[in-house]
Amino acid sequence: MSTLPLPYRVGYGEDAHRLAPGRPLILGGVPVPHAEHGAVAHSDGDAALHALADALLSGLALGDIGQYFPDTAAEWAGLDSRVILARALDLVRERGYVPLNVALVVTLDRPKLGPLRSEIARTLAELLGLAPAEVGVSFKTSEGLAPQHVQTRVTVLLGRTDG
Ligand code: C5P
Ligand code: MG
Repeated sequence: MSTLPLPYRVGYGEDAHRLAPGRPLILGGVPVPHAEHGAVAHSDGDAALHALADALLSGLALGDIGQYFPDTAAEWAGLDSRVILARALDLVRERGYVPLNVALVVTLDRPKLGPLRSEIARTLAELLGLAPAEVGVSFKTSEGLAPQHVQTRVTVLLGRTDG
């Protein structure tokens, strides 16, 4: 069995939230205008940032964000999910890796997110220290199977900083 650090590692994460009226919907750090419902969550409910943070952690077998930010802890109520992502990114960097590219899929029936694609990619790229072209953002409906549900799935490629 090799003990050499791998030059590349792949990570995968996903997150889902129930949607309810009267709540903001935030995806990838971007507030979605005219959303008729938003995420029911302990934090700000940004399913894209939660899935991305889990993808980063999973790439290095570091567990998941619930271990670092328990959703029972009062101190994390209403938490800005950018804080969660920053923590996951720090843990990855401390171990000598950085994200190289990201592929993210949001499943949401309404509203259409196409008009926000470049803003979400730009925001995620900025948070990760990448170029927008290194952040793929796709949208899918559930075809009406889960109208009160938002889900995000993310893969990330990590590379060692020492080459
Ligand atoms: O899921 P489906 O294949 O029906 O999605 C069709 C198109 O709608 C895709 O091109 C996707 O980018 C877009 N879409 C969107 N916003 C969503 C869901 C899908 O812009 N919330
Ligand atoms: Mg979540």
